[in-house]
Amino acid sequence: MQETKEAKKLVLSGIQPSGTLTLGNYLGALRNWTKMQDEYLCYYMLADLHTITVRQVPAELRQNCLKTAAIYLAAGLDPEKITLFLQSMVPAHSQLAWVLNCYAMMGELNRMTQFKDKSARHADNINGGLYTYPVLMAADILLYQADYVPVGKDQKQHVELARDIANRFNNTYSETFRIPEPIISTNTASIRSLSDPTKKMSKSESGDGTIFVLDNKDTILRKVRKAVTDSDGEIRRGEGKHGINNLMNIYSAATGKTDGEIESEFAGKGYGDFKLAVGEAIADLLGGIQQEYERYMADKAYLNRVLIEGAERASYAANKTLSKVYRKVGFYDPHK
Ligand code: TRP
Repeated sequence: MQETKEAKKLVLSGIQPSGTLTLGNYLGALRNWTKMQDEYLCYYMLADLHTITVRQVPAELRQNCLKTAAIYLAAGLDPEKITLFLQSMVPAHSQLAWVLNCYAMMGELNRMTQFKDKSARHADNINGGLYTYPVLMAADILLYQADYVPVGKDQKQHVELARDIANRFNNTYSETFRIPEPIISTNTASIRSLSDPTKKMSKSESGDGTIFVLDNKDTILRKVRKAVTDSDGEIRRGEGKHGINNLMNIYSAATGKTDGEIESEFAGKGYGDFKLAVGEAIADLLGGIQQEYERYMADKAYLNRVLIEGAERASYAANKTLSKVYRKVGFYDPHK
């Protein structure tokens, strides 16, 4: 067979393994990642280095890394097709991040809205890592010469910073980094908190606003039953109907039904009926993943093997870029 000249485009993305993944992570990220694994060359990482910008309990972080890897696989990512790896196992991320720090401007970092939000939320621990977080993320992306970076809307600004840093570096030396493009998944990216649908569904929320991928059916039904709605009582999309819009997004993502189909399915019915249907659809969707998850968690040797092999493949690709960078900035290499 003849080799195709056209190389596959490269995709890189990651999720922080701080806590268990949420329904929002699954619908907004993981599910889309699985759809890309045939068409693209995919690197999917567990961004554990990023998690320590906020205090973690070490034993929990370790366990969450393993669990998150199992969820990646349970969601359908195939380690034969993609490179699945743990960021901390590939030293090139930290190494490139240091170099890129010297090409990222304070003014740029000051404008990052996530830094401003997180400093407000963790006012007692506004550390340097929180500030340079987007530079590490730029290193993640640029190391692999990624073409596309699927992310939620809240991370778009970080991908834009990665582009700016890459352009600055390329212009200062010579072509080194490919300029990545963000892919912002549309409706499913906006899975909001059930208790405050103006906010994104977040791993770190403590109330009942977040559905976790590993929640059991009763928990899911209870959380959806308590979801914030509005007083107009109609199951249709509307300006300011944040709660219902969110439930419609979730229901549509879980069942594949369109807004029109959902509206006619629930015409004349109340929020109680709708919430029950949404809860059951979520439980069905996650049930299959949970079974697979248990299977992977029972085989830690296999998970370890996937992570070790993933890190080897990732390191190989990453080190190629890192050594170019080291040479361009002028680090002496006695091997050469
Ligand atoms: N910052 C991302 C988030 O919290 C996670 C992440 C780290 C990431 N490195 C990345 C996403 C590189 C895409 C590409 O969602």
